Amino acid sequence: MNSSFVEQPYQLYTPEDHKSWSKLYSRMKPRWEKYANDHFLKGISSLALQPDRVPRLEDVNRFLRPLTGFQAKGVAGYVPAFVFFDCLRQRAFPTTINIRHADQLDYLPEPDIFHDIAGHVPMHTDPAFAEALVRLGDCAHAAAEMVSSIRIEELTSIIRALARFFWFTIEFGLMQTKQGLRVYGSGLLSSHGEIEHAIASSDVQRYPLQLEWVINQSFAIDHYQPLLFTVESFDHLFSLVNQLEQWMKQGKLNHVAPGEPGVNEEDLKSFLDAGK
Ligand SMILES: [Fe+2]
Repeated sequence: MNSSFVEQPYQLYTPEDHKSWSKLYSRMKPRWEKYANDHFLKGISSLALQPDRVPRLEDVNRFLRPLTGFQAKGVAGYVPAFVFFDCLRQRAFPTTINIRHADQLDYLPEPDIFHDIAGHVPMHTDPAFAEALVRLGDCAHAAAEMVSSIRIEELTSIIRALARFFWFTIEFGLMQTKQGLRVYGSGLLSSHGEIEHAIASSDVQRYPLQLEWVINQSFAIDHYQPLLFTVESFDHLFSLVNQLEQWMKQGKLNHVAPGEPGVNEEDLKSFLDAGK
């Protein structure tokens, strides 16, 4: 298992840290009730998060593990792409343990414990969603198995395609439900402003997810997303991951459109090392 996992030194959280959690949680709650999909709402209640305390990962895992086998595992910082996907495959979610400061409640470019525990982990209580995440981990393994037979530019393109798929589904995905459009992407579920913008604003383009579009679509992380994609269900999401893997094996991800996100040396090296 990944050696970059860390313990959560819970006693080091300050009263200000707990206050940040409490503020973030209390202002998200009514927005979740309005805009989040049912699987998330069920998940957040089954995790029994406390509204006014930074959660302990071991408490979260006590509720989470019996449901899908997933666990939140503490990490101190950036996790290279292959390592991240490999963790998903092993049902371990790399979870940032620090929390944003009270003056950064609205936007933080990198993940924190609110994004990871309140945005991602409730989704991991859902068996169908959990299976789709594990399949994404399988996809990264299939990519690593190909590294000796493809060029670096092609590997870079595959990693970019995987990152785009992850972005437009796991981070910013919308779902068509009986109650209307609902959010399941964690970037939206942890953003007080953007969750409403994603569902209610006429400035957002929303289209049924097409794989050929998503893998070629660049994005910027520093403003609200102008383009979002919908799925019908998590079984639908799972079938899209299967298709993504098939396309990768057929070489269809080897030359996706250039642009964001960038693929850094660490990400590339993580795939190259795994493929040795
Ligand atoms: Fe995230």
